[in-house]
Amino acid sequence: MNQVEASAPGKLYIAGEYAVVEPGHPALLVAVDQFLTVKVTPSETVGTIHSSHYSSTPLQWRRKNGKLVVDERENPFHYLLAAIDFTEKYAKECGTALSMYHLIVESELDSASGLKYGLGSSAAVTVATVRALLKYYGLPETDVLVFKLSVLAHLSVKSNGSFGDIAAATYTGWLAYSSFDREWVKQKINTHSIKAITDLDWPAFMVERLTPPEELKLLIGWTGSPASTTDLVDQVKAKREAKEENYQQFLKNSKACVERMIQAFRAKDLKAIQAEIRHNRHLLKEMSESTGVSIETPALKALCETAEAHNGAAKSSGAGGGDCGIALFDRKIDLLELVNTWKAQDITLLPLQVYARS
Ligand code: PMV
Ligand code: MG
Repeated sequence: MNQVEASAPGKLYIAGEYAVVEPGHPALLVAVDQFLTVKVTPSETVGTIHSSHYSSTPLQWRRKNGKLVVDERENPFHYLLAAIDFTEKYAKECGTALSMYHLIVESELDSASGLKYGLGSSAAVTVATVRALLKYYGLPETDVLVFKLSVLAHLSVKSNGSFGDIAAATYTGWLAYSSFDREWVKQKINTHSIKAITDLDWPAFMVERLTPPEELKLLIGWTGSPASTTDLVDQVKAKREAKEENYQQFLKNSKACVERMIQAFRAKDLKAIQAEIRHNRHLLKEMSESTGVSIETPALKALCETAEAHNGAAKSSGAGGGDCGIALFDRKIDLLELVNTWKAQDITLLPLQVYARS
């Protein structure tokens, strides 16, 4: 066995958030050029795992009904272990003899001082680990296999999301993504081997690489306050029941909006893309009001309004509640003043570019 290495990029949502948790509802995402790298080197008798996620990341906890609660879905280390588990099960089913190794994780996705930007380190650590181990065992690492094994790992940690983050870390670039029928996959886990599940076509799963118009410029602003996606998704799930009719309407509208946005990408029509970004922001705002879950915080609102004042189309990215906002501009517009205004509003321009593996 030789030393191998695999990387996976961070991600950001552009549109379609929350609705994308339901199978068949598309979202738009980008992969960004900050990476998480996994190195695997052979060892003799003892294996080791080195990860900043394990040794130095503070364990997050919240208080719920007076009790201290640790949400294991927020600890990337669980995803790392699940990724190893599922990839090794798959390798064994392919007739591979398992062996010992040292596994090292290096990440650019959280700042050196441990700040969380919300760029999807749980997804990146899973995708990079699956890729590295498939390589280590000399198995083909096709994108669709890496995606499916990573999803199975996340399902085992009871992740409540859409797995769009895994799609972005796997396929990279600008992506349209719809999640698969989660119940169908869960049932297959009881009756099929891992290899057999990954060989099947998963109902409703859709992923398509998009090419943005030349003049499109994406800016990413960070509000400085980290948000918990798992918690926000749980909150929306709990609150939507009382307003199910409204939520169904939101799902329908979001799907139509993102489908028009995908068409606008195919037509390279920046103005139409921007119009759908504004529309999606409005749909999320209505859903937030209906469920009472805060998505566009005051800082994200300021970020959007400043971008709008410079002819940009902006919205919160991902679950909202903090983290990042995205803004789309025509490249010809001078954005120096905008960046200065963001600075004055305590919004940090993250110097990220979209990363597309060729
Ligand atoms: O906050 P982020 O960037 O992890 O995005 C979450 C997006 C949601 O649609 C709200 C949840 C999901 O997993 O798709
Ligand atoms: Mg987030």
